[in-house]
Amino acid sequence: MSKKPTTTKTQVETTGHSWDGIEEYNNPLPRWWLWTFYLTIIWGLIYTILYPAWPLVHSATQGLWGGNPRIAVEAEIQRFDDANAAIEAKLVDTDLTAIAADGELLDFATNAGGAVFKTWCAQCHGAGAAGAKGYPNLVDNDWLWGGSIEDIHTTIQHGIRNAEDADARYSEMPKFGADELLEPAQIDQVVQYVRQISGQEHDAGLASEGAVVFADNCSACHMEDGTGDRAQGAPNLTDAIWLYGGDVAALTETVTNARFGVMPAWSDRLSEADIRAVATWVHSRGGGE
Ligand code: HEC
Ligand code: HEC
Repeated sequence: MSKKPTTTKTQVETTGHSWDGIEEYNNPLPRWWLWTFYLTIIWGLIYTILYPAWPLVHSATQGLWGGNPRIAVEAEIQRFDDANAAIEAKLVDTDLTAIAADGELLDFATNAGGAVFKTWCAQCHGAGAAGAKGYPNLVDNDWLWGGSIEDIHTTIQHGIRNAEDADARYSEMPKFGADELLEPAQIDQVVQYVRQISGQEHDAGLASEGAVVFADNCSACHMEDGTGDRAQGAPNLTDAIWLYGGDVAALTETVTNARFGVMPAWSDRLSEADIRAVATWVHSRGGGE
């Protein structure tokens, strides 16, 4: 049996709204809910009195509890800066090559340098400094511009091929294809030659013609034997380590359009102590010379 919908009058008032015969009760809010609501308002007001909160024209109210966290952080940073000031001064005054011999200094520099690296360098070189395509691995023995502490320091100070630092390391490989310095056939030949000298599978016929193209066009920078030239940041092409790739497609792209790896200069962004610290950290990773 189906119940007949009852329309008995309720004791509760309705709001007067009615949709298709459905009416809306005008029940009071539950008391527990209402009181929780009032309490959060009171809590909020007390909070803004105890802690920095209300905006003023140039600052904000400081709060009765005084412990402005921003000021506390600044004070904490200042405390560390003061504590490190002496050893940082020593780091700046010590010969780059003598840092490694001073245990305390080396300890400080590698710790601080690791932190600098994670903040400023890891985006490009990877958290562990192992690099990525176009961004060199800094922990191996293969260096584009040099792996002595002085070389590394100079690279970090001035950067590479950037427009901001007049002393940045600079060199430019010609765009052999795009600028029609070589015929496409010659590019195929020299690519096979590069595959040969790097110990990869190659077409011997093309490679022997490529050797001539290489001697005429590439050896000025990459050296006659292809081992590269650090004075120009020209990579060693005979090892299995590639900045951009050693497969035929990547090599053809490099020779056709060239690459132009840019690294920012850091002398304006980091203190000399930080630059020395991160140089020491990179140098100590295992690939340092
Ligand atoms: C925006 C990306 C970028 C950032 C950030 C960056 N680098 Fe580089 N770095 C590069 C590129 C690209 C190269 C290679 C340029 C080239 O092809 O010669 C390079 C090269 C280097 C080299 C030379 C490697 C060699 O083989 O000679 C060193 C050392 C180096 N970076 C250290 C650092 C340190 C330390 C930092 C942080 C302070 C840093 N880099 C931040 C992009 C970056
Ligand atoms: C004026 C100097 C110069 C000349 C000439 C030159 N190169 Fe380069 N080459 C460079 C530089 C510098 C780089 C690194 C570019 C970068 O990192 O942005 C490079 C990079 C490369 C790479 C990339 C290596 C890698 O690890 O990914 C290859 C391959 C290469 N060159 C091959 C050649 C060949 C083949 C020729 C001749 C047809 C040639 N280069 C001529 C300067 C030169």
